[in-house]
Parts: sequence; C-alpha cells; structure tokens
Amino acid sequence: MEYHIKDKTLKSQGKLKIEWAEHNMPVLRKIREDFKKTKPLKGLCIGACLHITTETANLAITLKAGGAEAYLTASNPLSTQDDVAAALALEYHIPVFAIKGEDNKTYYQHIEEVLKRKPVITMDDGADLISNLHRKYPKRAKDVIGGTEETTTGVIRLRSMAKDGVLKYPVIAVNDSQTKHLFDNRYGTGQSTIDGILRATNVLIAGMKVVVGGYGWCGRGIAMRAKGMGGRVIITETDPVRALEAVMDGFDVMPMGEAAGIGDLFITSTGDRDILAKKHFLRMKDGAIIANAGHFNVEIDIPGLKEISTRKKRIRPYVDQYTLKNGKKINLLAEGRLVNLSAAEGHPAMVMDMSFANQALAAKYLKEKGKGLKGEVYTIPEDIDKEIAVLKLKTMGIETDKLTKAQKKYLSSWEEGT
Ligand code: ADE
Repeated sequence: MEYHIKDKTLKSQGKLKIEWAEHNMPVLRKIREDFKKTKPLKGLCIGACLHITTETANLAITLKAGGAEAYLTASNPLSTQDDVAAALALEYHIPVFAIKGEDNKTYYQHIEEVLKRKPVITMDDGADLISNLHRKYPKRAKDVIGGTEETTTGVIRLRSMAKDGVLKYPVIAVNDSQTKHLFDNRYGTGQSTIDGILRATNVLIAGMKVVVGGYGWCGRGIAMRAKGMGGRVIITETDPVRALEAVMDGFDVMPMGEAAGIGDLFITSTGDRDILAKKHFLRMKDGAIIANAGHFNVEIDIPGLKEISTRKKRIRPYVDQYTLKNGKKINLLAEGRLVNLSAAEGHPAMVMDMSFANQALAAKYLKEKGKGLKGEVYTIPEDIDKEIAVLKLKTMGIETDKLTKAQKKYLSSWEEGT
C-alpha cells in the first residue's frame, strides 16, 4: 500500500488549504528555504505520527525539502483532515496513512504501515509510534537515530520509559521548548478548544459556568479564552501551586465533585484519566456539555457514562446526547476525543509555525548529534529555541531591545549591589 486516504478527489481542496496555512508559517518557510539549499536530512527515512492537518502538511513538505523521505500516519483517529491527506499523497507525493473516523484497528494498521518503512527518525504526538516500535520491533531500535515528541502526554510516557530503562534511543521533547509550550499549549489550545466547542454546539459562552479540569499550560489557555468571552470560569486542580495560581488569576477553584453540580460546560485538559466520572455525571445539571482537550480519550469516563445511561442519540455532528437513568441529559462532544482537532481544525498555523519549526530543527539536530546521545529524553538546545523566537518576532515586524555591554556585565557579576 503506497498510501491510504479517504478520497482522492479532495486533493485540490486540500492543496489550497495547505497553501493557506503556509502563508501563516513564515518561520517554517524560512527553514524550508534553508533546507532546500543544504539538504540536512538527505536520505533519511522519517516516520511521523502526527495530527494530519494543514500545518503538519507544511512540516512534511519541509522535511522532504530537506532531503528526507517522510511517511505520515495520524496520531488520533478523529483528527485527520481528509482533504489534506489526499493533497499530501497525490500533490506532494508524501505517503499518508490516515482517514478521519478510522476505527482503532485501522489506526494501528496505519502505524504499522509507517513502521514497515523502517524510519530512522520517529516523530510523535502522543508517543504511539515509538511505543509500538519498542513493543513490536525492539531489535530495530538500534538503527534509529532518534525521535521527537510533540505533546505533554507523550513526554510523560517517554520519561517513564526512560526511568524504567526501556527507552532505546534519544528523544527530543519538542513540547519542552519555550517556543512550543508557552504558545501552542496556551494560545493554541485556548483558541482551538473554544473553536471546536462553538463549531459543535453554537452555544453562547457569555454567562455560562465553564469548568476547566487542569491548570497546566493548556488549561490556562482555555480558562483565559473562556473568561475573555464572558464565561464564569471554575478551575479544578490537584497540584497546590497551580491551584493557587488559578486562584490569584481570579478563578474560582474547587473539587470536581462540587463543580459538577454548578457547571454548564466542562472541559478536561489534565493528561490523566477519569477527570469526569460517574459520580460527577450524576450530579450534573440537565443539558450539561462535556468536552475533552487532553491528548487521549480517557479524561471523560465514557464507559461509565454509558453504564448510567438509558439512551444515546447523535443530535448534531460531534454531539452525542446521553439520557441518564435519572432522566437528565448530558451532551458529550467529539466522542471524548480532542475536541479542538475533531470538531475544529486544531491550532491555527500562526502558532503551529513555532511548534513545527522546533520539529524540523530537532530532526536536523538529531541527524547531526543523535549518535552521541543516549536513550533519554532531551530538550532542544536553548540557542535553537531562542533562534525560533527571534525569527518569529522578525516575521511579525517586532523589534526588541538588546543588552548593552554594561548590562551584560552587570548581569554576570555577583559583586555589584546597592
Ligand atoms: N496539534 C494541535 N493543533 C494542531 C495542528 N493544527 N496541526 C497539528 N497538530 C496539532
């Protein structure tokens, strides 16, 4: 199988959308131009398990421009943009194995298709490619130069692999770059999650009681945007420092058990399971809306929701209405999968520009330095991270001050005081 996509006739529409995104990815464009000249990835087979979006397409085109052979599979069964997949396969000749709405079996078959190509660099968003490679083909890991990981959840999985001594090659945690998580997780997730909820439901956020589970970078972004639209936001947290930050950012903070009876809209973004569980559903108001913005579909206990329901009905695209045994209705969005990528288009290109600049430069870095690294999780070197920020500011036409010699000396001196 050369590729597996839904519909070839969507290729022209997909190409237009990829070009539209490209316009808002000036840093990646600059890297692409450099890659075209210097071919830093020449001859490398890169397997990428990422959300198949217009932005990912631009990353794949950049990797190809750098001389790599790239094979793509989806990192979530519901996040694929089928027109983009068609354009990638047929207009850009980059093999893609992804269909929006694929079942779990197909999802893993598609991962297998990429693994069959024996990639020497793996790119992940959630660590499914690397974990399958480690479980099914452990002997092949020695031929892999390294991997990259896009998201918080994936980095947590990889750090636990490294801790258990089972991670067999180095991985760059792209998520740990400042130019990634401070922007993509906060402003990207903030906007795209609200976007997904609005496209699915067309509700008015103003005046709604919005409960956000988790106050990490993603949760902060969601809370900030919901508040900006007039939502009355409640945060639930387990980490005391984050909870305190949420309080001082002006949010109500309380346990989910309490928030469950108050909220109109619930959004989970913690990276952990069962944030919304049976005991919460039973307390919810009639008509409550529940959505997930975390990587995996475990944050809302859907099997538990089914157990206490008598009926499930799809009432709009991406809205399943469950009728509970107590007679109340709960509306689950996007089957509990990432609502921003399932019901909307994920983060806008303007922010993915920095995330994917990190991915492209991480691949180049692995090619140059990967052999000297161990089976551990690494952060991208600070100078690369800063360079991405410098480039982004430049493309936005924003200038900043520079430290004078005296200021640099002052900062590095311990003798100067009052
Ligand atoms: N993750 C979140 N938004 C995304 C996007 N637009 N493309 C790829 N991965 C994403």
